[in-house]
Amino acid sequence: MKNKSFVSINDLSRDKILSLLETAEQFEANPNSDILAGKVVGSLFFEPSTRTRLSFETAAKRLGARVIGFSDAATSSATKGETLKDTIMMVSSYADVIAMRHKLEGAARYVSEVSPVPIINAGDGANQHPSQTMLDLYSIKKTQGTLEGLNIHLVGDLKYGRTVHSLLHAMRHFNPTFHFIAPEELHMPEEYRMFCRENNIPFTETTEFNEDVIANADIIYMTRVQRERFSDLMEYEKVKNCYRLTNSMLDGTKENLRILHPLPRVNEISYDVDNNPKAYYFQQAQNGLYVREAIICDVLGIEI
Ligand code: CP
Repeated sequence: MKNKSFVSINDLSRDKILSLLETAEQFEANPNSDILAGKVVGSLFFEPSTRTRLSFETAAKRLGARVIGFSDAATSSATKGETLKDTIMMVSSYADVIAMRHKLEGAARYVSEVSPVPIINAGDGANQHPSQTMLDLYSIKKTQGTLEGLNIHLVGDLKYGRTVHSLLHAMRHFNPTFHFIAPEELHMPEEYRMFCRENNIPFTETTEFNEDVIANADIIYMTRVQRERFSDLMEYEKVKNCYRLTNSMLDGTKENLRILHPLPRVNEISYDVDNNPKAYYFQQAQNGLYVREAIICDVLGIEI
């Protein structure tokens, strides 16, 4: 890699993850400064986003940077046939760092190898979403007081869910036990089960989602069944309403349990869960701001 890009959670050591989380804590205590004054952050979203784009842009602006970019590739010259490489070469001549979301798996790695400025992967297809993983880790550590030895239940679309794939990889440093809860059609791909075996990470698998299955959970990580990842919409229709977490299901759960979700939610978490103190998904999204402030500073080599 020519520059200090942030492409995959697998590139980060345990110490690096913990150091970024510490920096994020400092930003939570003091989110506003001018340490990025004079910098320009490129924000290129070839796929839709609310939280990731807005929190990256807010992070840049709260630290004094300016932001350029697009939130809809239809308004860019990609529609005229410009290649991704050419787009990146152009924007890198305007911006000091680029946050990019793209539908193609591997797109972020590819552009990080041709870009003169650091690339931050804001999600590449069903592959990785490493800044989401950092805010997930931040949220787990903040609510549990540790990342070590937790029972983590991953629920829903474990096949296409890039957030669960990235989280699984990151947690290898922290001795988790995973519980994979998914319909047959969306079960955890073999490569991730193999990853668990190779890293001595215990896991269970089930298609059932009920009170018994979540009784020992420290974290329940709910996910949306992602319509945009299905080439056959009939297959999507079969599984779109597979699970729904309701408030009554949380009655017998552990006191320290927290419900996470990368959001957006469709109908997999009932609205009556929102007021339960175990619901943490909106605070989780807010934590994205502090973590993305830390990531932008890190790739730019700026110490706080
Ligand atoms: N969690 C997440 O990536 O949300 P957005 O798609 O809204 O950015």
